[in-house]
Amino acid sequence: MLNRTVSIVGAASGRGAKDHGCEAGPETLRRSDLATRLWRGGLDPIWEAIIPSEPDDDDIAAVRNLCAPLSQRVRSIVERSAFPLVLGGDHSCAIGTWSGVAAALRSRGPLGLIWIDAHMDAHTPCTTPSGALHGMPLATLLGHGEASLVALMEGHALAPQHVCVIGVRSFEPGEAELLSRLGVRVFPADEIDQRGLGEVMAEAHAIATRDTAGFGVTIDLDVVDPAEAPGVGSPVPWGLECAALAHALAAVSSDPKLIAAEIAEYNPAADTDNRTATVVADLATALFGAGKVRDDRRGIHELEWRYGAHNYDPLPVTLVRGEGVHVWDEHGRRYLDMMSAYSAVSHGHCHPRLTRVLAQQAGTLNVTSRAYRNDRLPILFERLCEVTGQEAVLPANTGLEAVEVALKAARKWGAKVKGVPQDEVEIIACDGNFHGRSIAIIAMSSEPQYRDGFGPYPPGFKRIPFGDADALERAITPNTVAFLVEPIQGEGGIIVPPAGYLARCAEICRRHDVLLICDEVQTGLGRTGRMLASQHEGVRPDGLILGKALGGGMLPVSAFLARRDVMDIFRPGDHGSTFGGNALAAAVALAAIDVLLEDRLPERAAELGEYFIRQLQAIESPLIREVRGLGLLIGVEFEAGPVTARLICEKLLEHGVLSKDTHHTVVRFAPPLIVTRAQIDEAVMALRTVLQELGGEEESAEALHELTFA
Ligand SMILES: Cc1ncc(COP(=O)(O)O)c(C=O)c1O
Repeated sequence: MLNRTVSIVGAASGRGAKDHGCEAGPETLRRSDLATRLWRGGLDPIWEAIIPSEPDDDDIAAVRNLCAPLSQRVRSIVERSAFPLVLGGDHSCAIGTWSGVAAALRSRGPLGLIWIDAHMDAHTPCTTPSGALHGMPLATLLGHGEASLVALMEGHALAPQHVCVIGVRSFEPGEAELLSRLGVRVFPADEIDQRGLGEVMAEAHAIATRDTAGFGVTIDLDVVDPAEAPGVGSPVPWGLECAALAHALAAVSSDPKLIAAEIAEYNPAADTDNRTATVVADLATALFGAGKVRDDRRGIHELEWRYGAHNYDPLPVTLVRGEGVHVWDEHGRRYLDMMSAYSAVSHGHCHPRLTRVLAQQAGTLNVTSRAYRNDRLPILFERLCEVTGQEAVLPANTGLEAVEVALKAARKWGAKVKGVPQDEVEIIACDGNFHGRSIAIIAMSSEPQYRDGFGPYPPGFKRIPFGDADALERAITPNTVAFLVEPIQGEGGIIVPPAGYLARCAEICRRHDVLLICDEVQTGLGRTGRMLASQHEGVRPDGLILGKALGGGMLPVSAFLARRDVMDIFRPGDHGSTFGGNALAAAVALAAIDVLLEDRLPERAAELGEYFIRQLQAIESPLIREVRGLGLLIGVEFEAGPVTARLICEKLLEHGVLSKDTHHTVVRFAPPLIVTRAQIDEAVMALRTVLQELGGEEESAEALHELTFA
């Protein structure tokens, strides 16, 4: 089995074909279980990048603009002794992939290539009837065809005697003539029928390895029978069986001379039942000899994939234990938790006092429902009002539920107190908001993915730009009952509004008799350096939503808090929750607040957050666009490009640091508030190392910029 890191690079090539459907192939595969399956098979795959298709009126320029950076990226992977697996996109990406591999091997000797395809892909601009560039990549790699694409080979075209083609069953005479003239061995489908794929693959392997420095395999998925793999760019009837091809590939997979692989022409639009994505995973697994399950940690992964909804795409780590700022995976590897479950673990994992309170209360009284009183909840109510300046509390479980309560409170207050006709009340929210993903909440969202397929949305919501108080004033009408806002947008990318924004919003809301409701699920309870983020501007909102850290990193506990007159719109039966306010949750939340106060965690967040931001700002990298945040809620925004925030997070994970990407370009750091300076230094050092590994730290700035954004 392959003993090198597999670096997966997506090539979103769609401009080589008339139908651009393959452009979405890599992103769809990134979301599939491909990496999980390779991992289960004993490999350590990493999704390194997806090279985008740049807009250009000219198809040739578009293909060149994708293949040039792809070539450089593949070359750098081979040069650092990792194994590139390129996932297309239409097969025009092969020009980038194999020019990069050939360039990396150049000083060692020629590159051999096994081209597995229903087509020959050996057209030149003179022989093609369709003009489609995905019919030309093999000719290009052999030094024939469109000049600006051939130029990517930098004068080192592949030597025909080391190249062979397997599986051909659809071609034009011009292509066959070119390959035959050059001396490329072609194994058409009928020869495979006669001799068997195993024997053919053995001969192909000999061609690709004899007197070469190494060899690669490129697979156009249309070589497989469309009955098995319908989701391809240009399907051709009949074809190889996937299992037979996987078996033949497994025979060459153990050869250490195998340098790189490519699987192209995956078209998700035609893959309605995911069959073709499974074929991609089967073939990749076979190519790496990763058929066997490595140990039972695969079991956990498999179970999650098989039985769980696929509504998360977790980073590849399984955590089994936590203590303070650290967590451990099932192999005993320790990680620095720089995310603390989106602020829910502000106290650190398994805080000893909270663990004790939890255990004691769990053995005393847990859930009674609110059909009866329990002796913990009223004490929590009092403490919450003391620390927030609010007058009344309605307890819930998750953040989303408390937001729903806030919306209901605002609507009923608007209808019963302000006097807006019930069906006309309006609530204003902000672009880029995140308040959860219930039906009502996504009605306020500006994120297309949260909404797509989940309509119809309830009416009565409006959105305005975040950070623009004048926009709020303009948007308010006599029917406006509330303005719901996060003091700092968390999921939105750690967006800090201009100074004075919240105070101005509070003043505007007061003037128009509109409730200001602050969603401090993420920013509250010390995260930004004050107990509440709204306190930075001396604002006491009319309604306040808390969650996450209120559960001490152990339980879901949330609350809607408000002025007494607002809360008094609720009558018995208007709203409720079986678990909301249960004795166990209340006891833990009470202790969580006490720990925040006694250990001065908000003050700690202020001091260490300032330090953390300074250290991050000191990193000079052309990849970093901005470092921003308040307290220990910090976002590092990277330039858009092939180095995605997800890739940075995966690399940080390799270096023992947990972080989380948002919106493709932002990496979030929100460690437990008990983090130390030394631990912050460790995380910053890991980020520096990762940027260096990706070629984007200080001294190599210019070179990297060219590489990444060419
Ligand atoms: C500001 C904000 N509000 C609400 C929520 C929803 O909280 P939950 O996931 O507990 O429902 C979140 C979660 O990230 C949040 O950040």
